[in-house]
Amino acid sequence: MPSDLASILRLAESAAQAGGHVLHRYWHDGVELRDKSEVGGKSYDLVSDADLESQSVIANLIASVCPDHELMGEEDLIGDTDAEHLWVIDPLDGTNNFLHHVPHFAVSIAYYHNGTPTVGVVLNPISGDTYTAVKGDGAKHNGAPLRTATATELSTALVGCGFYYDRGAMMRSTLSAIEDFFAHDIHGIRRFGTAALDLCAVASGMFGAFFEYKLSPWDFAAGQLVVTEAGGKVSDAKGNPLGLQPSSVLASCPGLYDAALEITAKHHPASS
Ligand code: IPD
Ligand code: CA
Ligand code: CA
Ligand code: CA
Repeated sequence: MPSDLASILRLAESAAQAGGHVLHRYWHDGVELRDKSEVGGKSYDLVSDADLESQSVIANLIASVCPDHELMGEEDLIGDTDAEHLWVIDPLDGTNNFLHHVPHFAVSIAYYHNGTPTVGVVLNPISGDTYTAVKGDGAKHNGAPLRTATATELSTALVGCGFYYDRGAMMRSTLSAIEDFFAHDIHGIRRFGTAALDLCAVASGMFGAFFEYKLSPWDFAAGQLVVTEAGGKVSDAKGNPLGLQPSSVLASCPGLYDAALEITAKHHPASS
């Protein structure tokens, strides 16, 4: 691995750990939740001081080492997506789990070089599970190399999914796709509540495939690289490459990609 990428990886890992410490503190001390984008009385998009403080600690650390790099993060951190050096940060992926005391959430940090995902780190601060990937250098889980599943039949797979906050057409599309996966006799469906770790579950072979009909770049930026570096495939749920805009996501081990894509494309909502 080139030494500049090794330094970027170390910085990404340190930043993820710094964010993780913040989340740990709020996890033990408690935190108040707020509805983030309340429309018509209720939204399901929650945020807390844990999200905000984790992001500011991560952003300050990266900016102190790389002052000329752009930073994009979920909590109103708007980076220039055309920049040569861009960091894409989800300071707390799985806020809903966090706020309900489900110990499954993550800090997700990706570094893009000229628009290409190049370094990714996903950390579960409670379990300590750390997933890393460097373009061309493979993916690792706690330092050990990762490979996706070798499955070739959906009937031998566990499939992960996620629901966007919409409880209308997009949710119905997701449920139709899930039904279709079951019609292919899959072993089961899982909805764990953090897209970054869902992608790592594909990378480590737990999930044969994962899909969600709307995610933001910070949800998938690091995890997509972990999947591709573990030998898997990632695209939107219609088969197009992912960019730096919100989109649907399909990630899969290579042997299940075509079959999973047929299902996710068939039920794809018009609006994402
Ligand atoms: C959410 C999680 C969840 C997914 C949502 C995301 P957040 O991110 O990744 O699994 O279903 O679509 O928005 O808001 O907890 O960072
Ligand atoms: Ca959120
Ligand atoms: Ca997220
Ligand atoms: Ca988040």
